Amino acid sequence: MAVFPALFGLILVSIVTGQTVEITPKQAVRRVGDDLTVLCKVPYPIDSCRMTVGSTPYRLIPSNQDEDVVYSGQGLQFGECGAHIKHIKEEWNGNISCMLPPQSGSIEVTGTMRLVVAKPPANPQLISPPQSNFKEGDIFMAQCVVPNGRPAARITWFLDDDQFLTGVHQPIISSEPGIDLETISQNITKELSADDNGKRLVCRAEHEALDSPKDAARQLVVYYPPKRTESGPITIFGLKIGSEGRLNVTVRSNPPPEAQWTVGDLVITAPQKNEESTITALEPLHLGGGYYNITLVLTAVAKEDVDRTYYLRVTNDLGREEFSLRLSTMDEPAGVELSPGAIAGIIVGVLLVIIVVSLTVYAKATDKWCFEDAESPDNAKSSGESSDTESAVGRQRSRLSALSARVRAVLPRGRDRVQATANAEAEPENVAEEKKGVVYAELALAEQSADKPPPPSTEYAEIVYTDQPGQIKEDKE
Ligand SMILES: *[C@@H]1O[C@H](CO)[C@@H](O)[C@H](O)[C@H]1NC(C)=O
Ligand SMILES: *[C@@H]1O[C@H](CO)[C@@H](O)[C@H](O)[C@H]1NC(C)=O
Ligand SMILES: *[C@@H]1O[C@H](CO)[C@@H](O)[C@H](O)[C@H]1NC(C)=O
Ligand SMILES: *[C@@H]1O[C@H](CO)[C@@H](O)[C@H](O)[C@H]1NC(C)=O
Repeated sequence: MAVFPALFGLILVSIVTGQTVEITPKQAVRRVGDDLTVLCKVPYPIDSCRMTVGSTPYRLIPSNQDEDVVYSGQGLQFGECGAHIKHIKEEWNGNISCMLPPQSGSIEVTGTMRLVVAKPPANPQLISPPQSNFKEGDIFMAQCVVPNGRPAARITWFLDDDQFLTGVHQPIISSEPGIDLETISQNITKELSADDNGKRLVCRAEHEALDSPKDAARQLVVYYPPKRTESGPITIFGLKIGSEGRLNVTVRSNPPPEAQWTVGDLVITAPQKNEESTITALEPLHLGGGYYNITLVLTAVAKEDVDRTYYLRVTNDLGREEFSLRLSTMDEPAGVELSPGAIAGIIVGVLLVIIVVSLTVYAKATDKWCFEDAESPDNAKSSGESSDTESAVGRQRSRLSALSARVRAVLPRGRDRVQATANAEAEPENVAEEKKGVVYAELALAEQSADKPPPPSTEYAEIVYTDQPGQIKEDKE
């Protein structure tokens, strides 16, 4: 009984929306000869099911399964009116509609889907500038057109085997009026680089009605002047006096480069030897990808060869590049290029040295004091610093004073700074002076990196050093 309110709701919806039929799928793409099942559904039992495929109206009866278009579904009592279309024909491209009896009234309810019977497009056309070669930096534009497909074909671009994605414009799909075939076109723009030379630009068309994609392609030829592969002056290492020496320079060039060497007054254009056959300029050797090795062979390296500079001029139609080379009998310096790990290692090492030096300096100052403290509590009293002015404040301050004096003695730089104030308050030494002394010592620690020799002894310095003999003596006792 709960079914009725639900049903009623659905009917209401149907009435409000104009009695729709649920049809699946809404759209399908099939090749000629494929099959397709279309299902129409209403939420009430029906007693008839009609379907229009192409221009033919079919009356579908569940018990009749012999025709090209037959009933499909769970039964009319469930409100299902479906068609199984066995062999799709070219002329069926278009709408498929179902017509079902209404819940009430006398106007049939209909549902419509779209069947696209795929038709392969014509061959893709790649339209690009007619010139056979380009210069590096040129903006290359091309258009690919794949005409008359149903539906429109899909275009993808490749450079050799790599899909080309940047510089691909939006595709444009058009169709001529009255014809249900679609033409797709897409443009690309690309700034040409040396790496593009020799690559195949491919426009690939894919389509439901094609068993395999179809390609249109052209070769890219990109010219550029000779380029260095490494910057800076060139030194050829590891040559041995008396042995053969080879001077190699790698350049990139398209079209192929011409090489001219200048050795003193001698100018040799490769491939060529000098009269004595002691110097040979080899023909530039193509390594692939536009890279060439340009080599000068010295039959036997002489002492004076190592002292001179060799000049190489590499030329092609688009420009030239000049090199100067020096020879060295040393091995190529190892570790010229520091790895990040090596740099980190050096930094850690330097930090360690700084820490060790600081600790040593500090320990040198503090050690004696610690020793003195542990050894005998009376030491401070017997030291020169424990003057009558100090007796009121006691041993603690005396030690502070001794420490600061020690630090100042070890750190020559600090003494300059302390001097003026210390002189002013040198006698009598009081609490204030001692505290200052500690502060100065800290300042001095921060300044210790300057390894200036100690300044000539001053009145202040004398005070410090007069303390020390006593201290050292005590330490040794
Ligand atoms: C196919 O159906 C659509 C609505 O789904 C309609 O706009 C179009 O005119 C129909 N085409 C034909 C050929 O009947
Ligand atoms: C594509 O390129 C052609 C010329 O090759 C041009 O006529 C057309 O306007 C371009 N289309 C777009 C969308 O850029
Ligand atoms: C120069 O090139 C030759 C091959 O042409 C090679 O045998 C030689 O090791 C190279 N020399 C240097 C220093 O790179
Ligand atoms: C080309 O020259 C480079 C040095 O510039 C050298 O390392 C390499 O071995 C050479 N290769 C050939 C095939 O000559």
